Formats: sequence, structure tokens, C-alpha cells
Amino acid sequence: MLLTRTIRVSTSQIYPGAIISSSFCAPSLTSIYSSLSRPLMSSVSVTESPDCLQVQGHVQYNTPDHITPSNVHTSPLEQFHIWFNQAREANVREPDAMSLSTATASGIPSSRMVLFKQLDKHGFVFYTNYTSRKSRELEENPQAALLFFWREMSRQVRVLGRVEKLSKEESEEYFKSRPVGTRLGAWASHQSSVIGEHDLFNRLGEVQERFGVQASDKEGDVPLPDFWGGWRVIPSEVEFWLGKPSRLHDRVRYLRVEGSLDDQPRWTIDRLSP
Ligand SMILES: Cc1cc2nc3c(=O)[nH]c(=O)nc-3n(C[C@H](O)[C@H](O)[C@H](O)COP(=O)(O)O)c2cc1C
Repeated sequence: MLLTRTIRVSTSQIYPGAIISSSFCAPSLTSIYSSLSRPLMSSVSVTESPDCLQVQGHVQYNTPDHITPSNVHTSPLEQFHIWFNQAREANVREPDAMSLSTATASGIPSSRMVLFKQLDKHGFVFYTNYTSRKSRELEENPQAALLFFWREMSRQVRVLGRVEKLSKEESEEYFKSRPVGTRLGAWASHQSSVIGEHDLFNRLGEVQERFGVQASDKEGDVPLPDFWGGWRVIPSEVEFWLGKPSRLHDRVRYLRVEGSLDDQPRWTIDRLSP
């Protein structure tokens, strides 16, 4: 006989990792997480057996607005700009956090969060280490997918496109604007490589000594490492998604017209079934 246990978990506990916290995390960690979280008017329940955790229920999306091809901007980049500003105004937490998916040449995918740093007429920019796993995958397969989820607004935006590296000058300009500590951190981290317990701390010590600057300093001359910089995702497809009751969501998808110019792209705009 399969023994199951049902626990109701209010979504005030869901943020970050609360389903897990209901059963697996140490209580002190649980209370830290729930004190960071914000309540929502819904709940999930879980059914647990020794070999399975099942989750039931979810937030009922019910946004008051409506998107359709006739009421969005003709450019997805402009439409993104509008939505991003609305997300900021609605105090969405970390509206600049996006998931980045890459794949190896043979098509094995991987995803992680990165910070969106710039939207220009060509596309979406983020910064990272050029020897990291994501960069290695982008070198061998220069296609990426981005995903923004703005939970507080029940909105998501997905972006697909080819990538290009930013010029050294562009990366340099951004790098200079970063606090000294994160500039030193970029030098200290061989991102995605396996390290020992004290390696990072030791490497930070070395780079502090090398540049004569401390991570806590307000100013200092820490140059751009040649293994660090920006990637730009040049979209060929962008989709805007708005959560609606009964999962009958609004979806508007832009597809770049083949052969249209990078700096003057033309787009077809369609409504998609949820
Ligand atoms: C909200 C958030 C933002 C992040 N932003 C960045 C970023 O802008 N650049 C970056 O290299 N890593 C960022 N990270 C760390 C990445 O998720 C990831 O751990 C790291 O880049 C290594 O990924 P990789 O081994 O697949 O290359 C962020 C993580 C989170 C949770």
C-alpha cells in the first residue's frame, strides 16, 4: 500500500524553495526563507510518498489587461521596453533577472539565471565569463533562449535568437561601471571550473595584491580581464505572455521576417493559443 501525506503550504512560504522547505530543510532555514517571502492569495498542496513528491494547485492568473497583435507595438524590442518599465513601476522583484538557455553543438541544453543589462536596437545584453560553460556553449552553438518571468504581474517574455560577443570597448565601458569588489571577483573566478574549498578566497587575495586594491575599496584600477565580457542576443522570435483565468492566457508572438536588416527588422505578429 502506498502511504501518502498531504501538506498544505501557503504561497507565503513558496518563495525561494518553500515546497522543499516544508519537508526537507532545517527549520531555521525555513524561517529565514519565509521571513523573506511575500504572501499571495493562493496555495499549493503536496502529496508525499517515500519515492514521490506530487504538487497540486497553483496561483489562478487573473490579469486585468489584455494583449493581442493589434494593441502591441510593431517592434518587440519597443514592446519589451514598455513591459520592462511597467515591471519596474509595479515593483516586480528583480525584473532584470532572466533565464538563459544555451546548448552544445550536439544539442544538449542547459539553463541558468543571468542579469539583463542592456537593450539596444540589436538586442539583449548580459555579461559573463567567456570561459564559463554558457560561453563555451555559445561559442560552439551561437543560439540562445532568454526567459523573463515577472511573477507579480503574471507575465513572461521569451526571446530566441543568435548571439554575438560585444566589442572589447563596449564590455570595458560596462566593466568600469561595476563596483571594485565585483571587478576583482571577475578576475578571481574561473567560472564553471571545479575548485577547492579555499581556492576562491586565495585567488581573491592574489588579485587584490596584483592590483593593489581591496574588494571593499570604493575606487581602484581593475582592468577588464580578456576572459570576461558581454554577449548580445539578437532576437528572431519574441513572445509576450499574460496569465489569464482557466489557463486561457494571452500570447503574442513576433517572428522576424527573413532577410530583414539587423538594425531595421520587420516582424510578423500573431496571437498563439495558450
Ligand atoms: C538572479 C541571478 C543573476 C545572475 N546573474 C549572472 C550574470 O549576470 N552573469 C553570470 O555570469 N552569472 C550570473 N548568475 C550566476 C549564473 O546563474 C550561473 O551560476 C553562472 O553564470 C555559471 O553558469 P554556467 O556554469 O552555466 O556558465 C546569476 C544568478 C542568479 C540567481
